[in-house]
Amino acid sequence: SFTPRVFSGIQPSGNLHLGNYLGALKRFVDWQAKDMETIYCMVDLHAITVWQDPKDLQKSTRELCAGFIAAGLDPEKSILINQSQVPEHAQLAWIFNCVARMGWMQRMTQWKDKAGKNQQNASLGLFAYPALMAADILVYHATHVPVGEDQKQHLELTRDIAIKFNHDYGVDFFPETQPVIEGAATRVMSLRDGSKKMSKSDASDASRINMTDDADTIAKKIRKAKTDPDGLPSEAKGLEERPEARNLVNIYAALMEHSVDQVLADVGGKQFSEFKPMLAELAVEKLAPISTEMSRLMDDHTEIDRILTRGSQRARAITAPILRQTYDIVGM
Ligand code: ADP
Ligand code: NA
Repeated sequence: SFTPRVFSGIQPSGNLHLGNYLGALKRFVDWQAKDMETIYCMVDLHAITVWQDPKDLQKSTRELCAGFIAAGLDPEKSILINQSQVPEHAQLAWIFNCVARMGWMQRMTQWKDKAGKNQQNASLGLFAYPALMAADILVYHATHVPVGEDQKQHLELTRDIAIKFNHDYGVDFFPETQPVIEGAATRVMSLRDGSKKMSKSDASDASRINMTDDADTIAKKIRKAKTDPDGLPSEAKGLEERPEARNLVNIYAALMEHSVDQVLADVGGKQFSEFKPMLAELAVEKLAPISTEMSRLMDDHTEIDRILTRGSQRARAITAPILRQTYDIVGM
């Protein structure tokens, strides 16, 4: 059996948004409070599976680290790292490229979505992305991975890789990691289109609330968020066929740390014209202190750089022995 250990990551591809915060970052902070080792990663190797301007990538990586800390991750309590600074991630990923099957990768919906119609022109890295993600997790023998719902399929593939590796080499070396997808906002939707998730890469800035948006911008985006003509129901089942209304209620519930039922008991019957300003005020109240702290940390990035260097040293004390043992198992 494996010591409980938590790992998760976010891509430094700019536009850190409310979905990342509620589906991932806020959960990371919850896990940090428990009596378990927690490791959180800026996954820059994942980010370059699609083109990133080098200067933007460096800035986004530091900004993401600032976001981690501003949201409540404590570099003394959690190990905070940038993926490329811990080379064992990429080294184990190569082994996993040789364990995973082409057919498994071809079934990944994120691959199909991101590659689009022109798969022949997508990077090989974009295709292999889930094997690198499996390595990120398993190079720590992590047992719990808090993520948003969009990562469920990749977590299943991580288990498949662990199982196949253990089976092929006749060992019980890699754990079968649990995805942890919980809370009211495991899939925050676009503010402009209730059928799409809020995403860093959406061309429309109005579709998402960025962590660095100021109060006026947040209020304006919520005011313009797409809704239907009906007001809020008083029971969750009244939201079932209304994705935009459900999304706003879920966001409110997650920010309040209340259940959806509790929220509807409080605001059921209100029109959107009344509810949207309440939601905007709540979002500003929760996000403004984080963005203020992010810009303070970004003013002088020596502290961030020092934290990441220290984090990579602590991480490698875990990853180097696990990679060494993996190589031994493989015959290297
Ligand atoms: P993005 O998909 O925005 O590029 P990442 O792939 O870096 O972000 O995902 C980082 C984390 O944020 C993952 O755990 C992912 O599941 C979570 N996440 C991303 N988008 C959303 C969303 N719209 N709602 C909830 N969680 C999300
Ligand atoms: Na994602």
